[in-house]
Amino acid sequence: MCGIVGYTGHHEAAPLLLEGLRRLEYRGYDSAGVAVHDGKATRIVRAEGKLSRLEEQLGKTPVTGSCGIGHTRWATHGRPSEHNAHPHRQGKVSVVHNGIIENHLQLRSRLQEQGRRFDSDTDSEIFAHLIEQEVERHGSDLRLAVARALDGVKGTWAICVVHDDHPGEIVAARNNAPLLLGLGGEANAAPGADGENFVASDVAAMLSHTRRVVDLFDGDTALVTRRGISVFDAEGEQVQRSERYIDWSPVAAEKQGYRHFMLKEIHEQPRVISDTLAGRVEMDRADVNLDGLDLSVGSLKRLTILACGTSWHAGLAGKYMIEQLARIPVEVDLASEFRYRDPIVKDGDLVIAISQSGETADTLAALQEARRLGARSLAICNVVGSSIARASEHVIYTHAGPEISVASTKAFTSQLTMLTLLAIYLGKRTGHLDEARIRTLLEGLSALPEHATNVLGQLAAMQVVARRYMNARDFLYLGRGLGYPVALEGALKLKEVSYVHAEGYASGELKHGPIALVDEELPVVGIALAGPGYDKVVSNLEEVRARGGKIIALGTVGDSHIAGLADDVILLPSVNEVLQPILATIPLQLLAYHIAVLKGTDVDQPRNLAKSVTVE
Ligand code: F6R
Repeated sequence: MCGIVGYTGHHEAAPLLLEGLRRLEYRGYDSAGVAVHDGKATRIVRAEGKLSRLEEQLGKTPVTGSCGIGHTRWATHGRPSEHNAHPHRQGKVSVVHNGIIENHLQLRSRLQEQGRRFDSDTDSEIFAHLIEQEVERHGSDLRLAVARALDGVKGTWAICVVHDDHPGEIVAARNNAPLLLGLGGEANAAPGADGENFVASDVAAMLSHTRRVVDLFDGDTALVTRRGISVFDAEGEQVQRSERYIDWSPVAAEKQGYRHFMLKEIHEQPRVISDTLAGRVEMDRADVNLDGLDLSVGSLKRLTILACGTSWHAGLAGKYMIEQLARIPVEVDLASEFRYRDPIVKDGDLVIAISQSGETADTLAALQEARRLGARSLAICNVVGSSIARASEHVIYTHAGPEISVASTKAFTSQLTMLTLLAIYLGKRTGHLDEARIRTLLEGLSALPEHATNVLGQLAAMQVVARRYMNARDFLYLGRGLGYPVALEGALKLKEVSYVHAEGYASGELKHGPIALVDEELPVVGIALAGPGYDKVVSNLEEVRARGGKIIALGTVGDSHIAGLADDVILLPSVNEVLQPILATIPLQLLAYHIAVLKGTDVDQPRNLAKSVTVE
């Protein structure tokens, strides 16, 4: 998501910060800023848009000094703009933040009641206020003040703080968001030597200056000066964190050691699921808080989901979830069809536009058409402030972070997570879900990041499967119920990145045509997870087997029957049926990825495809 870089030493900080931020550009951002201490006070320069705009601003209002922090922002709360860009300042405190403050609404209103005023719409500005309050109490120890300020904050953070009265000092803190320290100068340099040190959210930002890094742990706070670093754990005890040497090239560093962005993004999914859930699960009240969304559910008669491609697949899964958990009828339309079909829109209709980029031309036009015809609207987007987010009455964001690989992976799982939350939100309000059922679902959702991590552990198994079938000319993917959109998505991923023809089918349709394709050469991927459709999918797979087709099955741990039927089987943890698609998609993404790598295609930028389809 956002990027952080900090420098304290004996060189001018601003050019070093800019260079570090440039190394983080690949992550995507919408605004940037730096705060540099000139020996007397900290001066902030920020700009909306690309780093060249920040550079221009720095040309007009240069900042000098050898200690500073910088940030590239990818909006999560508050649209992209200069006043929402970091660093945020309060009194003598300047702060940059990556992550999400879950209890920001409560903290903001408490601070406002105390008479504090906010300059931005971000959650991050809260840190500046909290730290300022604590500095008033612990003025001589900036690190301690930061640690105390973090006490009442819930959420994820990597932050860097500088203070007018603490020249040369940077305080860094980490909780579930990456942050590392970079040791400048010679190893074992004498204390007081003319040293320099770095802080960054991503090793790429400091690799041209140092390869010696110290990883902070969750709960750590650290004081960084040119003379050295001191790290304290969550209990406030000073600790020694070990140093490691990075031997990646700068390009490998951008991918954090992964060979492709697609693989990196597949691996980010446990974190993305957590980020999408952050602050939205209210276990005590057995409810979901969708950033204050109020949909007047009582008057809703029908939902129409509009989307394209992978987002459309998420929408299909959303239909199953919402109809099952909230009993509201849902239609799912390809945006490109809806807009030209003279669609029927009635009173009580809500359209939900789903889009990772928020810029897809067909989805935007379909949303505008639905609104013109009188529908209410909600957008589920990943990019804050995007055209679709702005064209909709209501918007909720998925928090997947920038997706660089053209083939969508983590955005899909974040959309599924968000649609599950929405289905629970609606189910509670239609009275279809009681508190016990909601709690079970919320517990299931909260356990998903760990399950997703375990599924990612099957990487090696998917490599073996990929090698076995890489030369197949066609693939068939079969699923039923919530397994059907997973089958469609699995087939789309394979087509996109490996250029192998693949079809996704509702498995009940097998006998209505595609069974004619089955022979010894055809791999059939069957999504046969425990649940109401299981027996039916299995009998379809038996039909494939009887005709000599090869079966790759996704089953549930403990299912020995499927293991006996399939040539290759991937067993997934047992979870509630509505949560299955999130886990089942991961092995299919890996299968597509590995076949593409084996075939030597351009995985991150497959031929003929664009990341954001802004034309019809
Ligand atoms: C598939 C893929 C596309 C997009 C589609 C919609 O991997 O990336 O199918 O899902 O172009 O894009 P968004 O979600 O940005 O509207």
